[in-house]
Amino acid sequence: MERANRVKIGILNTGNIGSRLARAWVAAGHDLVLAKDGEDRKLAPLLAELGDKARLGTIREAADFGEVVLFSVYWPRVEGIVTTVGDALDGKVVIETMNPLGVTADFRHFHDLDFMRDNSTAEDLQARLPKARIVKAFNLLAAPLLEAAAWSESSAQPNVFYVSDDAVAGQVTRGLIADAGFKPVNAGPLRGARQLEQVGALLHHVADHEFGGDADLVRLALTVIEANPGPILRERVA
Ligand SMILES: NC(=O)c1ccc[n+]([C@@H]2O[C@H](COP(=O)([O-])OP(=O)(O)OC[C@H]3O[C@@H](n4cnc5c(N)ncnc54)[C@H](OP(=O)(O)O)[C@@H]3O)[C@@H](O)[C@H]2O)c1
Repeated sequence: MERANRVKIGILNTGNIGSRLARAWVAAGHDLVLAKDGEDRKLAPLLAELGDKARLGTIREAADFGEVVLFSVYWPRVEGIVTTVGDALDGKVVIETMNPLGVTADFRHFHDLDFMRDNSTAEDLQARLPKARIVKAFNLLAAPLLEAAAWSESSAQPNVFYVSDDAVAGQVTRGLIADAGFKPVNAGPLRGARQLEQVGALLHHVADHEFGGDADLVRLALTVIEANPGPILRERVA
């Protein structure tokens, strides 16, 4: 299996996604600085669990620390976070997980369809941080599915698609996807982030209309199918 060498990783926002990946990457032997967009006192239990492989930092400190930085903030927060990190991400591998979602006051999410017509969060972030080496990954699995425990009984290893214009950054990301317990799948140049984000919108629609709002269920089904193509698909290709 592909594995990353020991890497210094800044978790730039330890939220639903960042906390799961932090746990997996510490278990794989990497060194982390965790930052939170919001009240960082909420990270105390996670920091206690992770021990001396992870410490708390500000957004800027996590950006400074990481050779690789996980950029996993809410879409409406991008401008503020980019201003805070300044030039700290120049030259670094930046793995962004965002979907172009707005959030209502009662925490209902909606896709920014106008923005998605001819753009993606990944391309937008690359334009804001022209010297960063942006990779998009992890935008299609609901956060609970990033728990290694969710897959411990399964023979399937779910796919995690990634896109980037930087081949070396893509290779580094492959290793970190594998370290998190998933199968890395190269989906091409950064512009392909548009399709990854459109699949995100599709999954939300399917979850709402077929599965009564249960996003985890549909994502689980789709990732298992991806991991197990089975004989019928292979026969059709032949
Ligand atoms: N979460 C997912 O399943 C998922 C999947 C794929 C991609 N992504 C993308 O990854 C990026 C990071 O997502 P994240 O979920 O890890 O962000 P997050 O930091 O966990 O959440 C962002 C903001 O929403 C608040 N929040 C989170 N859950 C809430 C809830 N149940 N009720 C009320 N407020 C809540 C957080 O408040 P606190 O400060 O109190 O935590 C925080 O201010 C986003 O761009 C997202 O679109 C997320």
